[in-house]
Amino acid sequence: MWVFYNGKILDLENVTISPFDRAFQFGDGVYEVIRYYPEKFFEYDSHLDRLKSSLKKLEISFTAFVNIESILYELIRKNNLDDQLSIAYIQISRGVQFPRRHYFDDGMEPTVFMYVEKFPARQEEMKSGVKAGLEEDIRWMRCDIKTTSLLPNVLSKQRAVKNGVTEIIWHRNGFITEGTQTNVCFIKNNELITPPLSNFILPGITRGIVLRLCKKLGITTTERDIKLSELNGFDEILLLSTTAEVIPVIEADGKIINNRIPGPVCRLLQGEYQKLYNAESR
Ligand code: PDD
Repeated sequence: MWVFYNGKILDLENVTISPFDRAFQFGDGVYEVIRYYPEKFFEYDSHLDRLKSSLKKLEISFTAFVNIESILYELIRKNNLDDQLSIAYIQISRGVQFPRRHYFDDGMEPTVFMYVEKFPARQEEMKSGVKAGLEEDIRWMRCDIKTTSLLPNVLSKQRAVKNGVTEIIWHRNGFITEGTQTNVCFIKNNELITPPLSNFILPGITRGIVLRLCKKLGITTTERDIKLSELNGFDEILLLSTTAEVIPVIEADGKIINNRIPGPVCRLLQGEYQKLYNAESR
């Protein structure tokens, strides 16, 4: 497997990472996950903008953005994934620092790691829908930053897997925030409702696309705080992310949504989303 590590495309076996890398010791880094629909990276510029914004918010100085896209295409080519539905993972950490100190030095050299992986569409989940659990959101107050510090996400997701549900929908102070790996939106009487952008959720690229699609389709969109107690009153619940695209929730916290049948807005958005990436690729 060919990967990119600190300026070079290498065989994975030849990558050596310092145990003093701050990503290893502090989770001090940011990342992006981008979909490759043959033969194009989808919404590349939006992901790059969010990467820049995450880096800025964490005061990680990195400037070599212009090279990233061509490196990702090179990785696709070298790993023979040109015609495969895939993802790219980009991680930039603050870099190596010795001795270990919480505070960081000026002028550190970030560690850059990128790889691509064949990643099929989540067809069955998109078609039939998934179960979701509910948990309190115990994350920090900067969930708008796509940082590699993901322990609350990891632990919630682990419980999801153990309990046979696909995603956990989080709530904080009685309001819905997002999923461990997804943004969440709700449909009621043909209106799409989703929590507003804030420091409590990731500004999801898929969320942005879905809001744009709704405007085009004449579906009213409302970005507002959503009470946990409203959860029972929605016609549809949708999970949104780069890898999930649009996945319907058919059971939330044991309560059945729309007789376990994915709803019409879900189907419409799935179709339009597909049209969009088909038009942009090949
Ligand atoms: N997860 N919220 C959280 C907490 C996420 O981790 C993600 C993405 C999203 C959706 O963002 P986007 O539409 O830009 O993919 C929302 C990625 C895919 C992951 O960690 O695997």
